[in-house]
Amino acid sequence: MAASSYTKNILCIGAGYVGGPTMAMIAARCPQYKVTVVDINAERIAAWQSDKLPIFEPGLLNVVKEARGRNLFFTTEMEQNIHDADIIFVSVNTPTKTFGEGAGKTADLQHWEKTARQILKASESDKIIVEKSTLPVKTAQAMERILNSNDKGIVFDVLSNPEFLAEGTAMADLANPDRVLIGSRTNERGIKARQEVVDIYANWIPRERILTSDVWSSELSKLVANAFLAQRISSINAISALCEKTDADVAEVARAVGRDSRIGPKFLNASVGFGGSCFQKDILNLVYICESYGLTEVADYWENVVKINDYQRRRFVGTIRRVLFNTLVGKRIALFGAAFKADTSDTRESPALYVAEQLLEERAAVVLCDPQALANAKHDLARYAERIEFEPDPYRAAQGAHAIALLTEWSQFKVLDYARIFDSMEKPAFVFDGRNILDHQALYEIGFNVYPIGKPKLSHFA
Ligand code: UDX
Ligand code: ADP
Repeated sequence: MAASSYTKNILCIGAGYVGGPTMAMIAARCPQYKVTVVDINAERIAAWQSDKLPIFEPGLLNVVKEARGRNLFFTTEMEQNIHDADIIFVSVNTPTKTFGEGAGKTADLQHWEKTARQILKASESDKIIVEKSTLPVKTAQAMERILNSNDKGIVFDVLSNPEFLAEGTAMADLANPDRVLIGSRTNERGIKARQEVVDIYANWIPRERILTSDVWSSELSKLVANAFLAQRISSINAISALCEKTDADVAEVARAVGRDSRIGPKFLNASVGFGGSCFQKDILNLVYICESYGLTEVADYWENVVKINDYQRRRFVGTIRRVLFNTLVGKRIALFGAAFKADTSDTRESPALYVAEQLLEERAAVVLCDPQALANAKHDLARYAERIEFEPDPYRAAQGAHAIALLTEWSQFKVLDYARIFDSMEKPAFVFDGRNILDHQALYEIGFNVYPIGKPKLSHFA
């Protein structure tokens, strides 16, 4: 297709976990559009141009290859691409602020504002700006003010189109989403801009799954969706603590509770805690917004979801310490998993890293093993570089270890030869299953002492 025959020029600023896969899907499904993804990080862009993509996501490479060079382009060239774009998606990172007012809670908007100013500088025609990053409610309005305070006579419509994809299943989520949400101003101009974005998704998503609303409701919906999902995990994790005290089985409780069609069975797996770049950040953002409106009780209610998550991680390490005779000094502990969940290389807010750090504080000899996430983990734990081993082979990681703590539910870990692993470990040998994915009875029969989450332990001691 010749460049001139593209019917729309779409630009995405930020080639990360959200921008990259989303734009790859749009380009693959809409060959009539030119889709350009731009990032300030040249290394990242080079990786997107190669077959070694900067993020691991099942199915992503195939989709990228389908469109790359045809109508999907990755570049660091910002100005000309902003100039040429009709629609600009912004998916730059919005980490939690680490300084000043709102530190530790609200989103750090410096990348967003910088981007808005870059857009303003390079634009010479009206544009639709779509916020894809999760942002505090009313950010779109602030951005619209910055953008529209120009003396070039250009008008920008800022829309909210939050991304609901989950990592590890991003391509399936993008191909077949439960819903797409697009928020805009509700005046004629806003609705017209919104329709442009609806038209993009309508190329492959049934119209009834494309929801439209006002901007603020759209921005808030994203925070609330993540808060509700995280709340379910904290709820079942809180119950897991009670199950361990009472010898009940949290999986049985979840099964029975989840059979109520009003509750549903998903997101009720007790674990060592939720991780990922979104849940904690979005809840703390919600907490901050509530506090800023004086809604202290509402803020406290949601903050407890995060507190229980922290409690669950500490409780897990507490169990390891207690069971390993109250001292971890010098004990080799193999951590199976570094990613915050299976099928991703992402380690952001991974419970595995929290557990690793707490074990290191206890002066354990930590060995971290993961099929995809070791490079990221190495970077995150650089300050402990001399005290931690990174080992991709689980058999070698477990060799001479006192305990294995399973922290990410990679399917690879389920099918290991645990009898062989047991033979190579110090005795007594322990398994702490932070995801409840292993065959606990089989491990017990091999000789392990097994400590699941929210289930009775299987111990060879009286
Ligand atoms: C989440 C939302 O699901 C997605 O809609 C949003 O766009 C971004 O945030 P993600 O962080 O990629 O996606 O992963 P998700 O599958 O939601 O898992 C988050 C964390 O919860 C992981 O650490 C996972 O292991 C944990 N989890 C999930 C549990 O501990 N138990 C469960 O039952 C489900
Ligand atoms: P997310 O999970 O929200 O996609 P990531 O951190 O994976 O977040 O990706 C965000 C991307 O945005 C990074 O690759 C970063 O380099 C890029 N980025 C940040 N600020 C800018 C900017 N001003 N211009 C272009 N890209 C930016």
